[in-house]
Amino acid sequence: MEQCRNRRALLSSTTSTLTPTDPIRVLHLGCGNSRLCTDIAERWTTTPGLAVGNKGDDDATTLLCLDQVALDYSPVVIERMAAANANVQPAIHWAVDDVRTLTTVADHSVDLVIDKGTMDALQADKENDDMDEDIERMMHQVSRVMRQASATSSSSTDVTGATAAVAAAAFVQFTWEIPYYRLHHTKRAEYAWGTTPDTSISHGFLGESDLYRWFVYKAL
Ligand SMILES: C[S@@+](CC[C@H](N)C(=O)[O-])C[C@H]1O[C@@H](n2cnc3c(N)ncnc32)[C@H](O)[C@@H]1O
Repeated sequence: MEQCRNRRALLSSTTSTLTPTDPIRVLHLGCGNSRLCTDIAERWTTTPGLAVGNKGDDDATTLLCLDQVALDYSPVVIERMAAANANVQPAIHWAVDDVRTLTTVADHSVDLVIDKGTMDALQADKENDDMDEDIERMMHQVSRVMRQASATSSSSTDVTGATAAVAAAAFVQFTWEIPYYRLHHTKRAEYAWGTTPDTSISHGFLGESDLYRWFVYKAL
């Protein structure tokens, strides 16, 4: 899906969904040979004050720890991406995994889940009689791994013993699918983001594109 080339819009759509937790764990579903994860890593380390929680001032100390996991069910893809991006910092963790099972990802461990074209690939496989079921399995897994909001998480206890709020996770999709067909699959009460578009689900065109869209689902 490298034809979805508006990288600046992609980056600002992804990073703008983030809110402070440490480290920020990002999960890429079906990464393929996309540069999105390396773009995020590079931007993270080279843009003072980019990070999450940045209030637009010059305070570069707001940069937080970035922990990216990129997975694909193709071992060949993962082997090549790991070799090609071995020197990227912060290091990206590469994993062979299936979005329908996410066996390598723990419950409620991810702050930002990114799907760029992977659900599209499932939806495009018209030969697959199990398409609806596969997408549903993928959505249940995404929902399972997203971090839940907490006011008193022990993982956010600082050296003084104080606790801070842990923000709930976001799920971001980049797709050519129109809202009617996409929300048919993704808008369900049982998922972490629920069914209230006014607050937890939003979507729009990507940058100046009139074809590619972003969808953001915020865990409740
Ligand atoms: C259309 S490509 C998009 C790749 C990449 N995200 C991009 O934007 O260029 C879909 C990717 O999803 C992967 N994929 C398809 N089904 C998958 C599954 N069930 N589990 C994990 N990866 C899958 C494919 O191997 C492929 O790399």
